[in-house]
Amino acid sequence: MNNNTQRYPNREECLRILADAGCDQHVIKHILAVTDLALKIAAHFPNADRELIEAGALLHDLGRARTQGIEHGIAGGKLARQLGLPITIINIIERHLGAGIPEHDAVSLGLPAKDLIPTTLEERIVAHADNLFISDKRCNIQRSLEILNKKGFTEMARRVKQLHLALSQEAGIDIDEI
Ligand SMILES: [Fe+2]
Repeated sequence: MNNNTQRYPNREECLRILADAGCDQHVIKHILAVTDLALKIAAHFPNADRELIEAGALLHDLGRARTQGIEHGIAGGKLARQLGLPITIINIIERHLGAGIPEHDAVSLGLPAKDLIPTTLEERIVAHADNLFISDKRCNIQRSLEILNKKGFTEMARRVKQLHLALSQEAGIDIDEI
C-alpha cells in the first residue's frame, strides 16, 4: 500500500512502459535482476513499501531508452513525469545513480542544479541494488567500489560504501549475503 492517491504500475505495466519507451533487451535483463535483488533486500525491512520498490526498480533505468550516460537518471525522471507517474517513482529514478549525486556534483556533471541523493528507504534500496550489478551479473560491494574508484569516482565510491554499511546495519545482515 502507499500513501499516494495514485497507485503504482504493476510489473506488467512497468514492462510495457519500458518496451514502449524503447529500452533494449540487455537493459531489461539488468532491470529484472536489480528488481529481484531490491525485493530480496526489502524482505529484511518490515516497513518497506514493496509495491513502490518493485515499480521503482523496474523503472529505475527508464532513461536508458534515451541515453546511456550519467544523465539517464534525469532523462528517466522526465519520461516518468510525462507519463504522469507518482513523484515517489520519479524520485527513485532520478536518485538511483551510485548512492546519489549531491547538487554541487550534479552541476559539474552537467546535470540540473538539484540534490539527487536517495533519502527514503525505497530510494536507498533501489539505488543500492543497482550498485551490486554489472549489467545482469551480481557483484559484491568490494567489486562495485573497485569499479567506481578505477573510473575516478572516489567520492561516489565513498557514498556507495556508506550506503552499503548503513543498509546492512539496518537490515541486520550484510547486503552481500542477500
Ligand atoms: Fe541500473
